[in-house]
Amino acid sequence: MQVVKTIVEVRELRRHLSNSVGLVPTMGYFHEGHLALVKQARSENSTVVVSIFVNPTQFGPSEDFRTYPRDLNRDLNLLEKEKTDIVFVPSDDEMYPLGFSSWIDVEKVTERLEGASRPGHFKGVATVCTKLFNIVQPTKAYFGQKDAQQAVVIKRMVADLNMMVEIVVVLTVRESDGLAMSSRNTYLNAEERQAATILFKALSLARQLWQDGEKDSDKIRQQMTSLIQKEPLAKIDYVSIANPDTLEELKIIDHSAIASLAVSIGKTRLIDNILLE
Ligand code: PAJ
Repeated sequence: MQVVKTIVEVRELRRHLSNSVGLVPTMGYFHEGHLALVKQARSENSTVVVSIFVNPTQFGPSEDFRTYPRDLNRDLNLLEKEKTDIVFVPSDDEMYPLGFSSWIDVEKVTERLEGASRPGHFKGVATVCTKLFNIVQPTKAYFGQKDAQQAVVIKRMVADLNMMVEIVVVLTVRESDGLAMSSRNTYLNAEERQAATILFKALSLARQLWQDGEKDSDKIRQQMTSLIQKEPLAKIDYVSIANPDTLEELKIIDHSAIASLAVSIGKTRLIDNILLE
């Protein structure tokens, strides 16, 4: 496994690769969710590249950029076990040198949900992913369903800008009680960790109602909301039943839908989603 810090080094390694290259962009502090992406990339490509970069431009001024958990040595050990070929670990200056002034702004699908709650977030995500695609030139890039809107935004950008990369979306990996794995789960104390199960309970309720034939999204949203409100540590940011491709809110579920939510448990903001299809 080669660990490189500069764009020049990645380009030099890439020059010698003619078969498929799978890229897994990450911010590190790995859990089984990240590793599921790496495993799938490993099974589908000759070369697997993982990037670890806590991207400052996707964090808002009052968000957790400084305190975001980091443990590079542990991450590298885990990647070694997954038979990763190349790890790209750039510095902030390597990615955003003095004078940096070009941004990717994906419209519409970024306006709702996470985009509404975190202004500028997707501009940072789209820009860093574009840079990573240009640097690594992967055949396929792997993203988690856990961050459903991120996957939609990246697919939109790749289609709109004719980028030569196939986007693969990998199912959400969960703890045994249903909580979606997330680096931010480490912020939760024991009581909050227990309260955090309310997200998956609300999503499971949505799935149950829909399976029982409920097509009126308002009714599903309302029931999810009142369930979450019973948890004293939980504060709802949004509860959404939307079209899985456009993320527009649905009145009636005709075919498929994505139920998604953002809920703060204490100071920790968690997101999760489930597909109804
Ligand atoms: P990060 O939060 O580190 O996540 C890296 C990838 O792992 C993302 O595609 C995310 O959706 C996926 N992932 C996270 N938790 C998961 C889970 N429980 N199951 C399956 N996949 C999961 O997302 C980012 O970093 C950044 O925004 C990034 C794309 C790297 C751009 O900076």
